[in-house]
Amino acid sequence: MSTLNIIEFPDPRLRMKAAPVTVFDAKLKQFVADMLETMYAANGVGLAATQVAVQQRVLVIDMSDERDQPLVLINAELVEKGGTQVYQEGCLSFPGIYADVTRALDVKVKAHDVDGKEFVYAAEGPLAVAVQHEMDHLDGKVFVDYLSPLKRSLLLKRLEKHRKQAASA
Ligand code: NI
Repeated sequence: MSTLNIIEFPDPRLRMKAAPVTVFDAKLKQFVADMLETMYAANGVGLAATQVAVQQRVLVIDMSDERDQPLVLINAELVEKGGTQVYQEGCLSFPGIYADVTRALDVKVKAHDVDGKEFVYAAEGPLAVAVQHEMDHLDGKVFVDYLSPLKRSLLLKRLEKHRKQAASA
């Protein structure tokens, strides 16, 4: 296994739309393993293939405290959603910044596992937030897109500041 390079905003590749996975082979299994390793190494709770500059509909999530409950969704499609919630989100492509985003409270998705088997996955609360956030990445959408222009520009200034601090540290 190896860790992959996570691209950061405003890398234009974050705006690319990912294509469905059609081949479920050893290469895909390796890629999923690398994505999980990359997410854990970065202390993230979710990662979409778009964030490692691969335009395939693959996402991984683990919101457990023990970091031992990996969720892998391939070609995830929203089947149902309900309710609303406001949750403070962060993103590995936006290091150091967080913002409240309103999303559905619960979602049901249809997806494939690494072997190409289809399954239905239901999530609610923070887990549903993660599923929606990562699915957005695969369509070239990022969480700051949901903010007002003023809030977004304040946050992006903070991102720049965080980068300068990280570079000089
Ligand atoms: Ni993200």
